[in-house]
Amino acid sequence: MSVEVADPQRVPGSKLPAVFQAAWFFTRPVSYFESATRNYGPVAWLSLPGFGRVVSVTDPALIKQVFLDHDRAYAGEASKVMGPVLGPHSVLLLDGGEHMRQRKLLLPPFHGEALRAYERRIAEITRREIATWPANRPFAMRPRMQAITLQVILEVIFGVDDAERRDRYSHAVDRLMAISNLLALDTRPGSGRRSPIQRLIARRRVAVDRLIFEDVERRRKQAAGGEDVLSLLLAARDEDGRALTDSELRDELVTLLFAGHETTATALAWAVDLLMWKSSGRPGGSSSSLSSSASGRSPPACGCGRR
Ligand code: HEM
Repeated sequence: MSVEVADPQRVPGSKLPAVFQAAWFFTRPVSYFESATRNYGPVAWLSLPGFGRVVSVTDPALIKQVFLDHDRAYAGEASKVMGPVLGPHSVLLLDGGEHMRQRKLLLPPFHGEALRAYERRIAEITRREIATWPANRPFAMRPRMQAITLQVILEVIFGVDDAERRDRYSHAVDRLMAISNLLALDTRPGSGRRSPIQRLIARRRVAVDRLIFEDVERRRKQAAGGEDVLSLLLAARDEDGRALTDSELRDELVTLLFAGHETTATALAWAVDLLMWKSSGRPGGSSSSLSSSASGRSPPACGCGRR
């Protein structure tokens, strides 16, 4: 399928004021995009305060076309609203040569042998977390998966072995993540003039940044050679032999945290939900749980409970 859009101004789209669209997007994201596709087709204009006017593409073939069009699809530019949290060096906010440099430095810790080295640690962390799950009573699955993915990121990516220090990280990270979505409502993204939302984010960043810079400084003084991702990034060099600076390391660690935490936790919670429905053999299976997500709620409480 292809859609020729000669004049972007003629792309159809919602005339609903941006603040109403944002409220709909926040509370019922699936029905927001379903309604846009139903009313305006697979390519439609939307207005969201933090993002401004954006084109929504909801057809898989067209989405692939966009992602493969490296000359015109500036993923970094499109994500600049996350700048106050991720920082200017984040691979998610870069395009072109800078993006490729950061991506090449970030990739080795996520390939082959390096990944296999994390398996035992991830299994240990998962068992440790599952041991805390309540027995024989329903409980919400997603927060449990969030606990696992955050511990994995702190231990395997940041290399934080000390449990007390991980608790300090968890507290600071939870406080920052709790408000990061507000950036979608930010009226001055990338304008250089700090909005109230950006000032709030900056205050919440302080605790996370202090912990990261302390760890980077301490690790630089230690002998090289750890298995965790931070150790590998400290040793990484680009084609010109340049290492990652402290602020580049801070931005990439926070990017890995934001890119890997909620995404994986949500995918795991759905996996358990769908497996439960499948194993329950109840009619409607996963679709009934999907319908519960269409209304924005998380997967239903897990009735499994630890036996
Ligand atoms: C189910 C889990 C995950 C999903 C659905 C997911 C999805 C995505 C998507 C859609 C993008 C492209 C974003 C864009 O270009 O704007 C992306 C990029 C990225 N993801 Fe994930 N992700 C997941 C897990 C992770 C994990 C566990 C990590 C690392 C710990 C991670 C790190 C990254 C990074 C660094 C990028 C930027 C890559 C680049 O710009 O070159 N993601 N992810």
